Amino acid sequence: MLDVSPLFQPLAVGSKTLPNRIVMPPMVVNRGISTRAACDWYGQHAQAGAGLVIVEATNVTGFAGRYGAADLAPLAEAIHAGGALAALQLFPGARGQTTAPADLTRLQIDELVRGYAAAAAICAEAGFDGVEIHGAHGFLLNQFFSPEKNARRDAYGDTLAGRMALAVRIARAVREALPADTLLLYRHTPVGPGYSLEESLELGQELVDTGVQILDLSPSSIEEPGDHAAPFKALGVPLITVNDLDDVARALTVLREGRADLVAVGRGLIADPLWPAKVRQGRLDEIVTCTKCDHCFVDLRAEQPVGCVQWPRG
Ligand SMILES: Cc1cc2nc3c(=O)[nH]c(=O)nc-3n(C[C@H](O)[C@H](O)[C@H](O)COP(=O)(O)O)c2cc1C
Repeated sequence: MLDVSPLFQPLAVGSKTLPNRIVMPPMVVNRGISTRAACDWYGQHAQAGAGLVIVEATNVTGFAGRYGAADLAPLAEAIHAGGALAALQLFPGARGQTTAPADLTRLQIDELVRGYAAAAAICAEAGFDGVEIHGAHGFLLNQFFSPEKNARRDAYGDTLAGRMALAVRIARAVREALPADTLLLYRHTPVGPGYSLEESLELGQELVDTGVQILDLSPSSIEEPGDHAAPFKALGVPLITVNDLDDVARALTVLREGRADLVAVGRGLIADPLWPAKVRQGRLDEIVTCTKCDHCFVDLRAEQPVGCVQWPRG
């Protein structure tokens, strides 16, 4: 019988307390963020026991024109009603946009930074406990960090400091736009095209110095669960790790070995939204296990509400 209690220890971060170590990572599920369907989807995951629900990547471009605090408050409330903390991931630009770092003018960079700050302020006013900057997975901010993707020769490229500059500037602008008690998270890919874990640690340090309170490393379970998160422990902020951690033994290894503080379960929560409750109650044999068929990605690309073939109700 597995001792699952490490997954159910609270964690204090800033002035907030996460009720447990289970995170629903950001996943675009094509239900919007100001809709009833979004409240139902994210609310049910909070109800089932995820401790921190990070709402999907949402474009900062046009955010402030599209949403006001009143539009997003129901989603934050639905997540809170389930007992979880609520965060929202802010995406650098418009999804599907193929802009490369070198394409952006200085004015467009300024606009992006302003877009982040404005969106973050709206999220905080709506009642979200945190916002996450999406700097991972080869998207724009991650490209700025990659020497293979960033061909700029100005202050936003060229050197390591230059490749870090936009991420740090956005983190600073978002921190300044947020009330002191709203958490700032940053999602980063530890190893990417042309950059190493060592360089990522330097970025992590800069981000922490700028006020980032939780580092979300993705992907970060490469050979072993949480192995690419563990080096960031030295930075002294809570870490989220991810990848196939719906396997309860793998999730527990991360916590037992101290490789990260929080485990994110993505596709596993689409396959079985009741995963946290079943784990807590020791009903492991009742979990509908994600088969990694990635049908959810098919829904994602088809712009259909994302679900699991095994759990059509999801
Ligand atoms: C349908 C779907 C949508 C996703 N959307 C996002 C997103 O909006 N932002 C992000 O950073 N990652 C996104 N991801 C990646 C997940 O957050 C997570 O890192 C990934 O699924 C690996 O975790 P897992 O093995 O537990 O599924 C998405 C994944 C899926 C399956």
